[in-house]
Amino acid sequence: MRISVIGCGYLGAVHAACMAELGHDVVGLDVDEARIESLAAGRAPFHEPGFPELLARNVESGRLRFTTDPSLIADSEIHFIGVGTPQLDGALAADLRYVDAAIETVMDHAAPRTEGRPVLVAGKSTVPVGTAQRLADRLAGSGKNIILAWNPEFLREGYAVQDTLHPDRLVYGLPEDRGQGDVAKAILDECYATPLADGTPLVVANYPTAELVKVAANSFLATKISFINAMAELCEATGGDVSRLAEAIGHDDRIGKKFLQAGIGFGGGCLPKDIRAFMARAEELGVDEALTFLREVDAINLRRRHHAVELAEEAAGGSVAGARVAVLGITFKPDTDDLRDSPALDIAMRLRDRGARLVVADPAAGDELRRRHPGLDVADSVEDAVREADVVMVLTPWRDYLDLDPEALGDLVATRTIIDGRNVLDPRRWHDAGWNYHGMGRGVSAW
Ligand code: UGA
Repeated sequence: MRISVIGCGYLGAVHAACMAELGHDVVGLDVDEARIESLAAGRAPFHEPGFPELLARNVESGRLRFTTDPSLIADSEIHFIGVGTPQLDGALAADLRYVDAAIETVMDHAAPRTEGRPVLVAGKSTVPVGTAQRLADRLAGSGKNIILAWNPEFLREGYAVQDTLHPDRLVYGLPEDRGQGDVAKAILDECYATPLADGTPLVVANYPTAELVKVAANSFLATKISFINAMAELCEATGGDVSRLAEAIGHDDRIGKKFLQAGIGFGGGCLPKDIRAFMARAEELGVDEALTFLREVDAINLRRRHHAVELAEEAAGGSVAGARVAVLGITFKPDTDDLRDSPALDIAMRLRDRGARLVVADPAAGDELRRRHPGLDVADSVEDAVREADVVMVLTPWRDYLDLDPEALGDLVATRTIIDGRNVLDPRRWHDAGWNYHGMGRGVSAW
């Protein structure tokens, strides 16, 4: 099929490359010239495992092109909308200006269909419920025979390629008009023929359900993380061990083990802004009480950052002012170079504001950190970061950090004090090597 993908960020660029991998003829459109230049040359502009190879292969094959010229989307049968919906400045709500601009671009540049099936716009961006209907009405006024489906995306950064090629489910939000809906479904079925043939579950629903599925999923995940972090607070107050607690409750299939990793909390470009935009939308709809709990989810999450700063202060003897603090891992999670709303970066900056002599290391984000924060001391290796440190903090659980050797590191630091912000180190091992180990809701215990 001839496909356009409007917006070539994490979501759009990966989606475009994966659609080409499935055999479609794809053009990715974005207004960011540097990004398009890089993508068009087959160079990944962000860190995502498996993406560079996929991108290079499909650009090379000629099935995948990238452009800033909207006229190149004229012949597409499907236009995927993958632009960002960031949090508005000074408000909880989402900023929809890029989605609206993408719809205008399609209306301006799609060739009018006088015969044959209509052109399909498939929304992938995360939007407040009600947006799809508004956009469908706008497209209906174009006179170009363009229909809309909402097709939310559930990919995780770090697994974006795998999640797009082998999604755990596909969701189509279709128009109430049954005739239009059948056509939209047939077009999407053709597009996703490979994952559907592989047995990917498909859920078909109306627009509001499809929009809600996306924010409901992210809200549930955020709630799971804040739930276990609330338990961490209880463990901190009582001497309990939140990792053992999570293991024990996770054996109950109804609860499950995943997304119960307590620590410094969730960040990134999605979970934090999505729960806030969801609350803002619920308020507009007059059902804010239904989501009051998400305020608590947000508050628990932000308290974890504060708690990590306090732990560092205590560990440094009451104040970090003048103390050398080494932070290992700055991205919002491993296997990405994404710094958006990163709890690790937030904590590092707060420590710096309190006078810490901060040095940071990160396997993927070093260059970006140097560019964004010219004054920041960014080390090239763990060894360089921890040399003469008074406090070492592991804040993003990159694989490289999980097997750190407490003995070898102990020879480099000034004081053997470690804060395990993600509960990924073995407390006993670090303790036995003479370190003061501080976890997030767990310490060193006989059990
Ligand atoms: C999240 C969702 O998981 C995806 O399904 C969704 O498609 C995506 O948002 C989106 O809306 O685009 P992502 O932002 O890539 O994906 O990150 P997650 O893997 O969900 O992790 C979010 C944050 O939670 C990270 O900071 C991570 O460190 C933290 N986390 C995760 C925990 O603190 N504990 C856990 O147990 C799991």
